[in-house]
Amino acid sequence: MNMHLDEKIWLTLSFGMIMVFMLFTGYQAVALGMGPPSHKETIDPQKVDQTAPFDEPGIKQIGENEYEVVMTLQIFSFTPMNLEIPAGSTVHFTLTSKDVVHGFQVADTNINTMVMPGHIQKITQKFDEPGEYLVLCNEYCGAGHQAMSTTITVK
Ligand code: CUA
Repeated sequence: MNMHLDEKIWLTLSFGMIMVFMLFTGYQAVALGMGPPSHKETIDPQKVDQTAPFDEPGIKQIGENEYEVVMTLQIFSFTPMNLEIPAGSTVHFTLTSKDVVHGFQVADTNINTMVMPGHIQKITQKFDEPGEYLVLCNEYCGAGHQAMSTTITVK
């Protein structure tokens, strides 16, 4: 009789553990991709031009001293080019690539990131010092890689 009870307890315990395990892995699946995590946004690289916000690349003022830049990278350019912002601005960049892996490096700042097709990259940077900041692609992306650059002018 005691053996039987032990078996029941064990069965209940292992069933409970399986349930906990399943709940945990289910939760992980949601956390890893099925939910809407803002830091892991993806995009169809074939449809960048039709997908908001990249259907309207550009710079937009979203607050006092605060700007949003929606930018696409493609061989061998940045869209939009030659940005201008007032000194003291905080800029929220939202970036994606329309073709291959590019780099987004802004001289004299800590910005230095990869921009991959299929992924949305977000970076926030404050620009205090006036000047012309060189923006470079630092990932080899083909024959025109060396020429892939633009500027951010802070004034
Ligand atoms: Cu784009 Cu190198």
